[in-house]
Amino acid sequence: MSVSTSVPNPIPFLDLVTPHVELEQELTAVFRKALRSAGFIGGPMVEEFEKAFAAFCDASHSVAVSSGTDALRFALMASGVKPGDVVVTVPHTFIATTEAISQAGALPEFVDIDERTYNMDPAKLGEYLEKQCTVDDAGTLVSRRSGRPVTAVVPVHLYGQMADMDPILELAERYRLVVIEDACQAHGAEYFSRKHNRWMKAGSMGRAAAFSFYPGKNLGACGEAGAATTNDAGIAKHMKMLRDHGQATKYYHDIEGYNGRLDAIQAGLLHVKLAHLAKWNAQRRERAAEYNRLLVSTESVAIPHEPSSSRAVYHLYVICVEDREGLMAHLKSAGIGTGIHYPIPLHLQKAYAALNYLKGDFPVAEKVAAGIVSLPMFPQLAPEQQSRVVEEIINFTSMTARKCVEADVVSLGAENRTA
Ligand SMILES: Cc1ncc(COP(=O)(O)O)c(C=O)c1O
Repeated sequence: MSVSTSVPNPIPFLDLVTPHVELEQELTAVFRKALRSAGFIGGPMVEEFEKAFAAFCDASHSVAVSSGTDALRFALMASGVKPGDVVVTVPHTFIATTEAISQAGALPEFVDIDERTYNMDPAKLGEYLEKQCTVDDAGTLVSRRSGRPVTAVVPVHLYGQMADMDPILELAERYRLVVIEDACQAHGAEYFSRKHNRWMKAGSMGRAAAFSFYPGKNLGACGEAGAATTNDAGIAKHMKMLRDHGQATKYYHDIEGYNGRLDAIQAGLLHVKLAHLAKWNAQRRERAAEYNRLLVSTESVAIPHEPSSSRAVYHLYVICVEDREGLMAHLKSAGIGTGIHYPIPLHLQKAYAALNYLKGDFPVAEKVAAGIVSLPMFPQLAPEQQSRVVEEIINFTSMTARKCVEADVVSLGAENRTA
């Protein structure tokens, strides 16, 4: 939601200018270097960034591509998802998750999210696999809904917090499914794996993972960009071919691919910013802790839930309230930017009418979508700005609580008169 410009010192939802001004010299040096070498596509700038990003994710390989959507599509295809397969994911995510599944020729089917983390609920995944799928004569797991083979799961690490990966991976192993992480919002997020008895990074746990470097992401390019990670050299090689017209050697096309490469300039810019990502993520965690501290006793506001097995990187700080539209309008008039991520769950979007899901099919996702509001969140957000955001939230909630009490008193009065 855009902010009211008539209010002094508006607080934006996101400040993308400050980090670019701070890094201007380093960033413009990348342009100069690219102009002088004219190496605009591929080359050392891309390869160096790929190496550094793989290391950041604790993954063996990273393949830089033109967007997070392409990264997810290539990860699915290279991991063996075939046209006609079913890929299971959540309805509470950005549409790119399911677009990539469809673009790989597969069909998305959904399971509901967890009430507290808003990520895939492993119990619901287990229920889906057990009750909504069957095993055919050939031993293939088949969806009862579509009659198609179920081959992959895409947990989404939404808002910068990893899904509960241990039970998801365990189910995937039991049912022989491939797990592809949608880590597009979770650069640097960590999960404590009880199985491995250590903290593990987003992008290091699934067969492959997808990251977006859309400008507003924790690591954002100055344009469109993305990357896929994997610990499997064969999948990395396949993804490199998919991004480059199916060729590993120029003009020798083993398969049909796409034009999904990352520009060298974007890779260079991302490499400069990658050096600051751990610090920016730590600042986001501090800002989230401050919001939590200020909001924890406001009963009508549900703050984000971070389980002890999670170190989230707060791409977004999302609260849930009763009167979302009222709160957003109030914050707008106070000059405070907000957003909704996302207002309509995917199973109820027009684009997926043909999937024949109904309202009520995923009650948690539907309830969450009706109440969530994303508050201003970026590394440079000042504590004083946060205090003002929270002050306005509390003003609004106490105003509405007062209205409820007054309404109760009026209706009590009316009851008394009629009694
Ligand atoms: C959860 C999720 N998946 C996939 C994507 C797609 O990334 P991109 O916009 O870079 O294609 C995004 C980006 O917004 C996202 O948030």
